[in-house]
Amino acid sequence: MIRYQLLRQDGEARRGRLETPHGTLETPVFMPVGTAATVKTLSPDELTGLGAGIILGNTYHLYLRPGHERIARLGGLHRFMSWQGALLTDSGGFQVFSLGEGKGGEEGAGKGSLVKIVEEGVEFRSHLDGGKHFLSPERAVEIQEALGADVIMAFDECPPSLADRAYHERSLARTQRWLLRCRDAWTEAEARKADEGPQARTPCALFGIAQGGLFPDLRRRAIEEAAALELPGYALGGYAVGEEPEQMWEGVARDAPLLPAGKPRYLMGVGTPEDLLAGIAAGVDMFDCVLPTRCARNGLLFTSRGRLTIRNARYADDPRPPDPACGCYTCRNFSRAYLRHLFRAGELLGLRLNTLHNVHHYLTLMAEARAAIEAGRFAAFRQERLAAWRSGPE
Ligand code: GUN
Ligand code: ZN
Repeated sequence: MIRYQLLRQDGEARRGRLETPHGTLETPVFMPVGTAATVKTLSPDELTGLGAGIILGNTYHLYLRPGHERIARLGGLHRFMSWQGALLTDSGGFQVFSLGEGKGGEEGAGKGSLVKIVEEGVEFRSHLDGGKHFLSPERAVEIQEALGADVIMAFDECPPSLADRAYHERSLARTQRWLLRCRDAWTEAEARKADEGPQARTPCALFGIAQGGLFPDLRRRAIEEAAALELPGYALGGYAVGEEPEQMWEGVARDAPLLPAGKPRYLMGVGTPEDLLAGIAAGVDMFDCVLPTRCARNGLLFTSRGRLTIRNARYADDPRPPDPACGCYTCRNFSRAYLRHLFRAGELLGLRLNTLHNVHHYLTLMAEARAAIEAGRFAAFRQERLAAWRSGPE
């Protein structure tokens, strides 16, 4: 299924290796987001060329369109999108809340809410056509098993960080009950799959998700109960959902070391380059975020000297590459002036070149972080990077 090996520790930062049925990943690792069975604007070959070994897909989107059963008939998500590397799918809970107006809650947000949470699961309306759907722990596991990712995620509720304690307690208790149901559904699905014989599809590894908001005792309880299930891996959910970055860094620094040391640790939906270094320092092994790809399409480039807004008039005559210190295809071949022109003209190539650069930047940052951990100098590396990003592009 999967196997995690801790190779070296530097403070809490971990250098590890994660073997999956679709390749071995060096951790800490960043997973570009391929929500709708594509990392927007990039081909699988380009992703591989950038050094991506694992990407993320979304249950919610693929279930609604084109349908998980169709993808299963076509040979599973790897074959459907022609991706030979590893895949992780999120369970759909988070997307239901973030796309379904986000503020559903148990009673709904009153009129207009698209989401209703009950013990059995979550009723929601499609963001595509308004049609009614229901997701439950069993259904989320069934869909993810049909997609066939190497890592599948438990079905959880991700309340806003700043919701009150009473809501977090009630929500967490339910998410923990859902985790048991996910575990049971996953155990059964994997047993059935093993019975397929020599043609059996590759196994999926279930990761548990610990919620609990900004309440240390709730987080600790969530982690301890999840750890007792001895799942293949664990995630921290419920971060970067409305709290200040400093609150998240403090929470992650407290929670990540509580996760089982022998299993991969995943911080969901995080984050900025600064967030990644904070997560790594806390002992997180896996990250995903739409930022590098989404910001690229908005003309925001992450560079070794911080963020650069390519549409800015000051770059109209600038012959320099976006980041003179970057070795990506974009920076080796194109000027700020050209990229600004493409962006303003709405040219598709601009979106692709920006995405190539940002994904390269994120993956290179992770490779350098891994090297720093190996050299036992991660803390110094982090401070150097933060200082360089603060200096701003020339
Ligand atoms: N993506 C970002 N945060 C979360 C979370 O808390 N839960 C899930 N399932 N996905 C996420
Ligand atoms: Zn570049």
